[in-house]
Amino acid sequence: MNKKRIVILASGSGSNMQAIIDYAKTNIVNYKIIGLIVNNPDAFAIERAKIENIQYFIINHRDFENRQDFENKIHSQLIDLNCEIIVCAGFMRILQAEFVEKWEGRILNIHPSLLPKYKGLHTHQRAIDANDEFAGCTVHFVNSGVDEGAIIGQASVKIDNGETVDSLASKILIKEHILFPKCIDAVANNEIILKNGKAIFKNGSIISV
Ligand code: GRF
Repeated sequence: MNKKRIVILASGSGSNMQAIIDYAKTNIVNYKIIGLIVNNPDAFAIERAKIENIQYFIINHRDFENRQDFENKIHSQLIDLNCEIIVCAGFMRILQAEFVEKWEGRILNIHPSLLPKYKGLHTHQRAIDANDEFAGCTVHFVNSGVDEGAIIGQASVKIDNGETVDSLASKILIKEHILFPKCIDAVANNEIILKNGKAIFKNGSIISV
């Protein structure tokens, strides 16, 4: 079977992208990374792509009049690359319905909370402030809502006494790096598909690590 062609969308450090690359080096997977698109020209993800010989494209949202033009440019780049699955790995721009609908069932995101709790920003602070016992991360299909698409996988960590935003974020990031590649591979293998807005799991239930 031909490996699924994935394109990473990122804005920052790209540690999740690195985890997805590294997982594919040490496991038999059904995906290959064929490109990186960043909206931020200073994203460290670019340096990682250079080292890994992955072609990268800087599509800076500031260079466009409006969101639609920006997203049209991303879309045409994805088409040029023959992208099959989009992986948002720390991509800090909200994608509008028109874009997302074109890629329905073929676009994934990772979010640093146990969704449906704490959609949006400042997830770690909100979990600490709420005195939650656990926090974590979620991989989901992207739909037109923010952090609302069908859940593919989750991982949780305990919130310890004296936990800070930084310590919690580091603990969760370790889990993100384990969870995300497994979820991508499951989607690449058609083990998890999106149907009528719901995730269908051919081999059981949501992925947890
Ligand atoms: C991760 O915590 C991700 O969940 C969030 O942004 C962070 C990105 O990290 N959306 P990286 O760029 O993959 O290192």
